[in-house]
Amino acid sequence: MHTYLVTGGAGFIGSNYIHYMFKKYGDDIRIINVDVLTYAGNLENLRDIENKPGYSFVKADITDKAAIEKIFADNPDIDRVVHFAAESHVDRSIRNPEVFVQTNVMGTAVMLNAAKAAWELPDGTFKPDHKFLHVSTDEVYGTLPDDDNAYFYETTPYDPHSPYSASKAGSDMLVKSYMDTYKFPANITNCSNNYGPYQFPEKLIPLMINNALNGKKLPVYGDGLNVRDWLYVEDHAKAIDMVQEQGRLFETYNIGGHNEKRNIEIVNIIIDTLREELDDSDPRKAYVTKDLITYVEDRKGHDRRYAIAPDKIKSEIGWEPETMFKEGIRKTIRWYFDHEDWMKNVTSGDYQKYYETMYNV
Ligand code: NAD
Ligand code: TYD
Repeated sequence: MHTYLVTGGAGFIGSNYIHYMFKKYGDDIRIINVDVLTYAGNLENLRDIENKPGYSFVKADITDKAAIEKIFADNPDIDRVVHFAAESHVDRSIRNPEVFVQTNVMGTAVMLNAAKAAWELPDGTFKPDHKFLHVSTDEVYGTLPDDDNAYFYETTPYDPHSPYSASKAGSDMLVKSYMDTYKFPANITNCSNNYGPYQFPEKLIPLMINNALNGKKLPVYGDGLNVRDWLYVEDHAKAIDMVQEQGRLFETYNIGGHNEKRNIEIVNIIIDTLREELDDSDPRKAYVTKDLITYVEDRKGHDRRYAIAPDKIKSEIGWEPETMFKEGIRKTIRWYFDHEDWMKNVTSGDYQKYYETMYNV
């Protein structure tokens, strides 16, 4: 039985991962979710498992060394760390980079140090079968040319462009340095864009769903032809678990959906799917149309294309994306239909301020 310290478990991917893990392992695992609950962290995401005997929540900041060390001291059975906690949105990083360095770089340093101190044996080796998994992004590799045959591989040199991706690259480098210097037992995963339930509506897909359902403009940056490789979040959760249990220690694994789409294609698919899902009697059907699409000023330093060839994770571990985009986007849209209150709660308060400043409305 493993005891997991999951950081950032109240966020989008972290909460999906915790759901996935309890679904898969039932009562055979313990998960301690450590999250400071920024604007992106929401305990509502975990409402249905909060009373599970194997689950506990600790509100703590990953940059708070004493708090993180105390969690390890209080829970000497922690033998897995899955590190999601981060500032995660590129547009916010362009406006306010410092917190990205603080959380993503300094926070990762604190997590690494605390795990190393807890797991290190007197001879400098580590307790057997103790593992740290650092969750990262394909954005560390920079951008690909607008060419369907180019892909990111684990060997692609890092070339981050946004403060977000630079801070994630910094955190990856720290993890690599711990593996090289101390033989610290870790893996890094670099994943492409995720979508699915519980995603905060600052990211493309939930923002477009929410705006469309409220009859608001759909702001497409630049020419709308930038490409992202979209992966259903549950497939990512499964990949993380498989890498941690079956991957070779010290290795990096890229995780991708083999599902590259231009942003404008995504927006069109969302509108088509929303229209199919809305009853003819629903008054929203009158305004959920492509007329809402509005081209706006491009993002500064906007990476053109991301695409992952998930060859290594497939050949070594046997993981492949399972959810086709057509099915995943429908499931996602239905989830947002069924969780209008969730959306209302996360978009009240500070979200309005963010939206008005970001989109000049
Ligand atoms: P998110 O923004 O939805 O969630 C981040 C979580 O971290 C929140 O619950 C937040 O409260 C918590 N957090 C932030 N700062 C913290 C701090 N100082 N201490 C403790 N908790 C803190 O992010 P996400 O989309 O779920 O991404 C999770 C991880 O996956 C990130 O490391 C991100 O870089 C990586 N990733 C995301 C994507 C994507 O498409 N969203 C793709 C690849 C990799
Ligand atoms: P996003 O979801 O922010 O993910 P990332 O920048 O990490 O890939 O954006 C995905 C793509 O959608 C990216 O090319 C920027 C674009 N985009 C828009 O065109 N309009 C928007 O309002 C947002 C949030 C993103």
